[in-house]
Amino acid sequence: MRATVIGLGYVGLVTAAGVAEWGHDVVGIDGDERRVRALKAGRMPIHEPGLQDLVAAGVAAGKLRFSAPSATAIAAAQVVFVAVGTHDGNGGWQTATIRRALASIVPAMSDDATLAIRSTLPPDFIRQLPWVVNAIRQEAGRRPIPVMSNPEFTREGSAVRDFLEPDRVVIGVGHDPHGRGESMLRKVYRRVEAPVLVMGATDAALTKLGANLFLATKISFANELAQLCDAYGADINDVVAGMSHDSRIGGGFLRPGIGFGGSCLPHQVAMTVRESEEMGTPSPLFAAVETVNHRQRELFVERIVRAVGDLSGSRIALLGLTFKPDTDDLREAPALEIASALIAGGATVVAYDPMPKARSGAAEAVAGLIVVDNAMKAIVGADAIGLVTEWKEFGQLPWGAIASAVARPVIVDGRNALDPEALMAAGFEYIGFGRAGEIQALAPRAVAAAASGAEAPTPDAEPARRGSRRGTPIQAKPSGA
Ligand code: UGA
Repeated sequence: MRATVIGLGYVGLVTAAGVAEWGHDVVGIDGDERRVRALKAGRMPIHEPGLQDLVAAGVAAGKLRFSAPSATAIAAAQVVFVAVGTHDGNGGWQTATIRRALASIVPAMSDDATLAIRSTLPPDFIRQLPWVVNAIRQEAGRRPIPVMSNPEFTREGSAVRDFLEPDRVVIGVGHDPHGRGESMLRKVYRRVEAPVLVMGATDAALTKLGANLFLATKISFANELAQLCDAYGADINDVVAGMSHDSRIGGGFLRPGIGFGGSCLPHQVAMTVRESEEMGTPSPLFAAVETVNHRQRELFVERIVRAVGDLSGSRIALLGLTFKPDTDDLREAPALEIASALIAGGATVVAYDPMPKARSGAAEAVAGLIVVDNAMKAIVGADAIGLVTEWKEFGQLPWGAIASAVARPVIVDGRNALDPEALMAAGFEYIGFGRAGEIQALAPRAVAAAASGAEAPTPDAEPARRGSRRGTPIQAKPSGA
């Protein structure tokens, strides 16, 4: 197949490289000349594990090339994927970019070609799309074309794998009277082993939205449950493990902490709340998901305040800035709101993230934020350490030595990513989310380890997953609950 992908951002670039990997001939087009130049030179505009290699392989095999907007590349394509931006930068949708893109692409497409929309758009716009597109065709004196949607379910940080080995492929039919659009897309995805689901385009848009709303709801649910765990003195890890063995529940997306960020989940929850309100069918559930998510950021700040007593004059180290590890994306990153709140309270906030782009972006976005280029520079002399993003390297820090390099050994773990046992043995006060029971159980061991001067074990790099460790519950250190 000959495919052209319009828009080379997080979604389009992965689509272009992935489709080329399956042996199709792909041209990736973007209006940003610098981006196209960089891609031609082998430089990636985003940090996404495995993407650079996938792009290089596609280019080397002669299956992938990049171009500025080109009517020839569009005219030659059998399938045109559109993956342009749809956010208005203010938490809302905008369709101006895609309308502009369609106005220039659609008249140039061959009569045999299929249009496949990959951008995430309001279901209402997806519903109108066949008319929008074929009105452009008519005006240009051209025959109607199949109008399909093909939502993406890839996660930043694992987008390449998610694309190449998806759980499912969803093909949304907008206008496809002879089934040509469906058969073109089936050919594109013929190497995929996952189920290919064909449905109406509006259903496809709601499948995408529904999946993200459900994931967001799971996270807010876990955050509510963590609050209960702290209040009752229970351990969220054990509770979630116990729940997740029920196949109806599953264990994914139940990790509590500072909540979800990124360009997708927060935006889609907020837009659903806003639009359902406007349509006269308000959604109290999704409104609560949003409220809980924002409260988590506040709880994190409160826990730091409680740990240091008074923010004013204190020095807080923030570990991580991106909304999740393995990306350089700062969109809706909880770190930005957290850093601003701490600075507003009078703290000096020194942050480190492994991604240089995230460091410079955060310094620009948050007035007064100090960013440094290694974790120890942030940590030394801190009155409290706040873990915001669970980058692997934070689990491997020499926590035993760090305990004596900080002004006060307190850590607020906003992702429940560190091992409290190791940290407490190193002399840290550990504050997590929903881990009060675990801390209570660990306290006697930590005291014993500290008394014997035992070397602190290295904390886990991954979010702690542990078996049952029970000690005699004693008065807990403040858990921040
Ligand atoms: C999300 C969806 O997971 C993808 O399936 C979807 O394709 C994508 O949005 C999109 O609409 O384009 P993404 O935003 O890249 O992907 O990242 P996620 O892995 O979903 O994480 C979102 C946020 O939730 C992160 O801040 C993460 O730290 C947080 N999270 C995740 C939790 O707080 N707890 C969890 O248990 C899981």
